[in-house]
Amino acid sequence: MYRYDEVDHRLVRERVDQFRDQTRRFLAGELTEDEFRPLRLMNGLYVQRHAPMLRVAIPYGHLRSIQLRKLADIARRYDRGYGHLTTRQNIQFNWPELAKVPDILEELSTVEMHAIQTSGNCVRNTTTDAFAGVAADELFDPRPYCEIIRQWSTLHPEFTFLPRKFKIAVSGSVEDRAATMVHDIGLHVSRNAAGESGFKVIVGGGLGRTPMVGEVIREFLPRQHLLTYLDAVLRVYNRFGRRDNKYKARIKILVKAMTREGFAAKVEDEWLHLKDGPATLREEDVEHYASFFGDPEYAALADNPAELTEALAADKAFARWYERNTKPHRHPGYRSVVLSLKETGAPPGDIGAEQMEAAAEWADRFGFGELRVAHEQNLVLPDVAQKDLHALWLEARAQRMATPNIGLLTDIISCPGGDFCALANARSIPVANAIQKTFDDLDYLYDLGDIACNFSGCMNACGHHHIGNIGILGVDKNGEEWYQITLGGSQGSDTAIGKVIGPSFAQADVPAAFAKIMQVYLERRLLGERFIETLRRVGVEPFKERVYAPVH
Ligand code: HEM
Ligand code: SF4
Repeated sequence: MYRYDEVDHRLVRERVDQFRDQTRRFLAGELTEDEFRPLRLMNGLYVQRHAPMLRVAIPYGHLRSIQLRKLADIARRYDRGYGHLTTRQNIQFNWPELAKVPDILEELSTVEMHAIQTSGNCVRNTTTDAFAGVAADELFDPRPYCEIIRQWSTLHPEFTFLPRKFKIAVSGSVEDRAATMVHDIGLHVSRNAAGESGFKVIVGGGLGRTPMVGEVIREFLPRQHLLTYLDAVLRVYNRFGRRDNKYKARIKILVKAMTREGFAAKVEDEWLHLKDGPATLREEDVEHYASFFGDPEYAALADNPAELTEALAADKAFARWYERNTKPHRHPGYRSVVLSLKETGAPPGDIGAEQMEAAAEWADRFGFGELRVAHEQNLVLPDVAQKDLHALWLEARAQRMATPNIGLLTDIISCPGGDFCALANARSIPVANAIQKTFDDLDYLYDLGDIACNFSGCMNACGHHHIGNIGILGVDKNGEEWYQITLGGSQGSDTAIGKVIGPSFAQADVPAAFAKIMQVYLERRLLGERFIETLRRVGVEPFKERVYAPVH
């Protein structure tokens, strides 16, 4: 877990005081809307459809139980009793009262949290694998590097006013669970000829109105050069990125304009001035940060204890949950647990105050007081002893956080859409719920297997619809809500942007279109073939034909 030092504490305290005064002046009419806007955005405060929206930073998705309890308390006292977990591992509150936001920030500061750099043209929250540090396929722990990036990027004087927002994702595992290919910078583990592990550097990925898969500009970056190389990339972007047109300002547009080779060459040139300079990471620096993330006191346990195997044999519902919602752990006798926030009928990613408190309690009782926010908008308990899984499952079920659907079609990633967001073309929550309802039969859902369905309410793509195996995008047609379907997107090592299959659908027709897509998959799949594999093998045509076939 990251640790605050005196500098962090002071910085956050001072920011609360500044923002309290700024808010007071705005409410007193001493600051105009235009003057207040950049100030509030520096503290993650947006003006939304019904109320302000506050985005709270959760560094690389890491939470301590005490922090989650505080978020629950804030949800209850300052909001309407819930928060929304985002695809960038943060949490958003949808209903705070503007005059109370300084109080919320003050409450957050008591548990080492804040909303700094959750908005604006700066380096945003760095994201990582929700299973960092515990994943069975991890080559090195990315968290010390995330923490180094957090400290380097927070109020970095040179990179506080970039051409546009900037997102970095880091993954130290073989399987890329941090969507590194669609970030401004993705850092994914790679090995050199000597067998050392470092970073593959991917630049210029991103979604939004011009979705792009990133380009690899360096196959192997030794880890000690992380910051000097990031400095070089950001300098090139800061200098050459377009500031004349907001829609062409992201680094992906620059990389495309310069070409991968041209951009990489500029970075290497810039790096020559920086390489081996003062920002080079010394062994002892890395060890210092790594010590924050040392192993908790795992007990010496064996895999598959009797408590687990007996419960699995006795209870099919538990076995299903175990299969889908728990993941292999590096340490024998443990599993990581995904607490699903995708119950049928619940807005994807929403979490109630009582659920937060319950999850904090499980983190203390069944783990080491830590939780993670997953990119897929679920919560993760990283370290649960296998013998405790059944007891945890019973409690999680009672809190409606044990829907056994992780990775299945109903584990929908979705932005809040038109119900909350002022930029939306269409609502996403009712459509996501309608899909969940249509596919409520667990046997059918399990037969369909892994399918990523991602949903955004407008082309800003907060719900990552481009990289869903099935993506849904809300579009506006003469003031009405319509939904466009894309197929073939994916994240991870085979990252791809999905293709629009044809004209968009009215809200009521989306579930039927999904049902037809699933029929085609079941008819065409080969034994053991996942949805995305069948889709890639047979192409989108058979799906299109079925979905748009005239009804007789
Ligand atoms: C309700 C308030 C929100 C507003 C006003 C908002 C605004 C935006 C805008 C304008 C973009 C496009 C940026 C660009 O193309 O440069 C964007 C992208 C994005 N937002 Fe949001 N958003 C909101 C909520 C969310 C939520 C709830 C999530 C997560 C569920 C989220 C995560 C993202 C992500 C992942 C992108 C990806 C595009 C990229 O950078 O490649 N945002 N958002
Ligand atoms: S995708 Fe559009 S509708 Fe959804 S949260 Fe982002 S800006 Fe709002």
